[in-house]
Amino acid sequence: MIHKINFDLGVIESAPTTVRSLIDLRGYFIDEDSFNAAVQKNPVVYTLSSLEYAQGEGQLHCGLGTLMPGKIGSEYFFTRGHLHTWRAAAEVYLGLAGEGYLLLEHENGQTEFQVLSPGQIVYVPGFTAHRTINTSKTPLTYLGIYPAQAGHDYASIKSTNFRHVVVEIDGLPQLIERNEYITRYLHL
Ligand code: NI
Repeated sequence: MIHKINFDLGVIESAPTTVRSLIDLRGYFIDEDSFNAAVQKNPVVYTLSSLEYAQGEGQLHCGLGTLMPGKIGSEYFFTRGHLHTWRAAAEVYLGLAGEGYLLLEHENGQTEFQVLSPGQIVYVPGFTAHRTINTSKTPLTYLGIYPAQAGHDYASIKSTNFRHVVVEIDGLPQLIERNEYITRYLHL
């Protein structure tokens, strides 16, 4: 079977595609009032087309993600983010369209903030939670390639979230510690 990216739709039409709308991200954004206002319209936040060619040791899977532009309060739209169930499993991301970032948080707490734009290749080491963030005004499309046995652990992120947030401050995207943002900016 031939698999091809439809860049207009941001999906691989031959692959199963998951749609995540805002209601699926309840509890992830800082500004609950803004979330509750925006969720009335429940916009699509991202889609994920998954190609699972084969299962088992040595096999690879890949996922094409398209993350819409938007914000909840000052916080840019993001994917839920995950660790791999098999923690050692790494992943390679390739930016294809739009402009944004990959937020990487190693289990030791170290945070990295990598540009994800067309042609940009980002290595996600094992033991590292990863989330994509769209800081632009157009959809962000990217491909991720990972071991078939990696698995996705979303629950760990749901319970702790990332230590940093990416928010618009003075018109620009900024990476800032979650607690610092809450203290300094949220209730101004
Ligand atoms: Ni992954």
